[in-house]
Amino acid sequence: MSVAPRAGNGKITVPDILSRKTRSLDGSFETKQKITCLTAYDYPTALLLDEAGVDILLVGDSLAMVVLGYDSTLPVTLEEMLHHTRAVRRGTKRALLVADMPYGSFHVSMEESVRNAVRFVKEGGAEAVKVEGGERRLELISRLVDAEIPVMGHIGLTPQSVNALGGFHVQGKTADAARQLERDARAVEAAGAFSVVLESVPRELGAQVTQKLRIPTIGIGAGPDCDGQVLVFHDFAGLTLGHMPKFARKYADLGGEISRAAKDFCDDVRAGRFPSDAESYHSPAELREKLLARERA
Ligand code: KIV
Repeated sequence: MSVAPRAGNGKITVPDILSRKTRSLDGSFETKQKITCLTAYDYPTALLLDEAGVDILLVGDSLAMVVLGYDSTLPVTLEEMLHHTRAVRRGTKRALLVADMPYGSFHVSMEESVRNAVRFVKEGGAEAVKVEGGERRLELISRLVDAEIPVMGHIGLTPQSVNALGGFHVQGKTADAARQLERDARAVEAAGAFSVVLESVPRELGAQVTQKLRIPTIGIGAGPDCDGQVLVFHDFAGLTLGHMPKFARKYADLGGEISRAAKDFCDDVRAGRFPSDAESYHSPAELREKLLARERA
């Protein structure tokens, strides 16, 4: 079993995230400091991102696509998500650790959904779970909150609905769709979520929803006015080999570096430059002499 480190020493907690957003005297909301969130799927990445000061590490079900090579997030299992959540837990000290509930883990019954979310906390060491969907998750979110599990909502483009939506498209582009998004956001807040991801919606709608909610919005393709931003690690690090979404920014070119390093390794091995003598173990001197003497005899 892995557990979250105790609060203190700069540890980010759910109340810290909530308190980043305050209400001013005129009733409008302000974000004291924008919230940063990156996805992570393994121990070394978690260590690096945590030490760099990222506020929230999300073990996203994007794992299915960027790590496991599926063409949607639907196939990843609860056991696979738990396995990666435990690895990220071991590398995370300061950041808030949120685990994504994968497709199928909260779609069958309320009881099973709560039991699955409990596993993320008990076995994965997650401090919160993320659940896709708005109004129709109202009851689930409040049941999870009742079970002491903080919930991050996720509305707009919800990749688990790819079949129903007919692809990965920008959401909220008609007046009806924009009104639905606002209803979804209000439902997630009313159910007790501590934050909500807004994915792939027009900037204007992202700003409007952010202004109306008491809880922080974390945008991904929802414009700069959200209370925080999240990126998928592979997009951020230059490890996305295919199409990059318009909203993603590549902060490093690890893909290019890995390709270059692999080519250099092949060249060095083929030319006998790797390993060098300094990179080799040596027999003790007396054994070397014995071997030499045996060769000479
Ligand atoms: O799975 C994921 O990585 C996500 C983020 C895009 C928010 O849900």
